[in-house]
Amino acid sequence: MLRDADIGPGRPPVPNGPATAPSLVDPFGRSITYLRVSVTDRCDFRCVYCMSEDMAFLPKRDLLSLEELDRLCSAFVTQGVRKLRITGGEPLVRKNVMSLFRALGRHLETGALEELTLTTNGSQLGKYAAELADIGVRRVNVSIDTLDRDKFRAITRWGDLDRVLEGVAAAEAAGLKIKINAVALKDVNEHEIEHLMTWCHGRGYDLTLIETMPLGEIGDDRTDQYLPLNTVRARLAERFTLEEIPYRTGGPARYVRVAETGGRLGLITPMTHNFCESCNRVRVTCTGTLYMCLGQEDAADLRAPLRASEGDDLLNAAITAAIARKPKGHDFVIARAGGPSVSRHMSVTGG
Ligand code: 5AD
Ligand code: SF4
Repeated sequence: MLRDADIGPGRPPVPNGPATAPSLVDPFGRSITYLRVSVTDRCDFRCVYCMSEDMAFLPKRDLLSLEELDRLCSAFVTQGVRKLRITGGEPLVRKNVMSLFRALGRHLETGALEELTLTTNGSQLGKYAAELADIGVRRVNVSIDTLDRDKFRAITRWGDLDRVLEGVAAAEAAGLKIKINAVALKDVNEHEIEHLMTWCHGRGYDLTLIETMPLGEIGDDRTDQYLPLNTVRARLAERFTLEEIPYRTGGPARYVRVAETGGRLGLITPMTHNFCESCNRVRVTCTGTLYMCLGQEDAADLRAPLRASEGDDLLNAAITAAIARKPKGHDFVIARAGGPSVSRHMSVTGG
């Protein structure tokens, strides 16, 4: 467990609540209140749309320590970030990751942070769900693209659906709210989406569908995988009543309520509907590289200022300077014969 003393001197007190919190505002007037933190680029799965089978991972010596990740996240919280999402790769395969969750949990106690959450493939949830709930995590996003065991194995290459479902059950038993994320994949799960939705809604889970984004070389042609969500939505609308609702979770998903199931369906459509104008987030990797946009190459190194001194002045200045360069938006295109729009994989930047 990390104690405050481990985190370095010279830290200003964490402001209490939104009224006093300073804010990071980008050149387009967007307040940055949401930080996604990839704590490892490694994963125990190899999803076909995410990674190639023989991925080269970062050498361990390049990673920030968990104490450094805590310091980094805490600097953002001090500057007005209200929501932290821990991602990967698969965040729960990082050794000792619970000590980071525990340390960050202190910002929930002070009220500086509204939400601490994670995106996971679920393979380790059976082990950690109860502890996450104890730390103050209230919601978890679990990626499940299909409920068919063999297909699940084919999509994830290495994953075991039963183990993931046990993890989801453990999260539910621990009182965590569950959202299932599914990437819509042409020919692969496109005819199962209705089943996945009724399964989720029958259990009180939200389901969010995601369009594939051209991130990183995966060894396959992405035009073969890409399934626009307006097609999926139109098909669902033949069988279900989809009512637009204003519900938001701080992310880019737009939600509909499905009258027949009573459940919520989220749609993340970076390709067919660009939502950059309301972007409130930035992403930091496990090496301390800050990406101001998932869909652009520009980045800021926060590791050097973090390590240059024990106090956070340099780090805070680097964060402010980076936010001042946040671009207006991405320009993803899925082009046949074109390479990825962005060379790094989702597992590097964090989903
Ligand atoms: N496009 C869209 N979604 C992706 N994910 C991983 N790679 C991609 C991609 N290229 C999804 C995972 C997970 C979330 C973190 O991001 O399936 O649900
Ligand atoms: Fe791992 Fe998630 Fe990428 Fe699948 S999508 S390989 S679970 S990081």
